[in-house]
Amino acid sequence: MKYTLTGVVAMDDNRAIGYQGALPWRLVEDLRLFKRITMGHPILMGRITHESMGRLLPGRQNIVLTRSSSYCAAEGAVVIHSLAQLEHVKLQDPEVMVIGGAQIYGMLLSKLDKLHVSHIHGTHEADTFFPPFSEQFPHVSEGEEYEGFTFRTYSR
Ligand SMILES: NC(=O)c1ccc[n+]([C@@H]2O[C@H](COP(=O)([O-])OP(=O)(O)OC[C@H]3O[C@@H](n4cnc5c(N)ncnc54)[C@H](OP(=O)(O)O)[C@@H]3O)[C@@H](O)[C@H]2O)c1
Repeated sequence: MKYTLTGVVAMDDNRAIGYQGALPWRLVEDLRLFKRITMGHPILMGRITHESMGRLLPGRQNIVLTRSSSYCAAEGAVVIHSLAQLEHVKLQDPEVMVIGGAQIYGMLLSKLDKLHVSHIHGTHEADTFFPPFSEQFPHVSEGEEYEGFTFRTYSR
């Protein structure tokens, strides 16, 4: 099935996205926005992000990338071992949301049509970062202001 890839990420002023396997912040409004953006779409994630969530996200086809052929994901998740395998998945919608983490963003950045970014204000203790991206996405939407973050969409 033909599909497009859209990135969805929350990053701080240092492009930090994670700390010790979790998000470095807790922003309920950003989680709500994430839900609104991704609902009804397949969500593609790395195995570590899948495990950090600890459950399937409802209303979305959860697709997990792992190199392990024996990986046992949460029941109901679709497990794939390469991007090529995505073509053989019967997708709930052709716009696939790439939701991280850093390895998956890094691997797929050049293939993303667009990127939704919650720019979390300030800097945070972190061990996982989003790669530099702005040169690849010259078109930037006007920022939408929320409590603690600014939301922008980047496109090519
Ligand atoms: N701020 C945000 O928006 C956001 C979003 C998502 C995640 N995060 C944070 O990011 C951190 C996790 O990111 P991460 O980079 O450590 O892990 P990740 O990208 O979630 O998952 C990495 C795993 O994906 C699999 N993988 C990677 N490349 C692959 C390939 N080419 N083919 C097949 N499988 C592949 C491997 O699984 P196997 O080891 O099983 O082979 C690898 O260990 C956490 O702290 C999380 O909270 C933040």
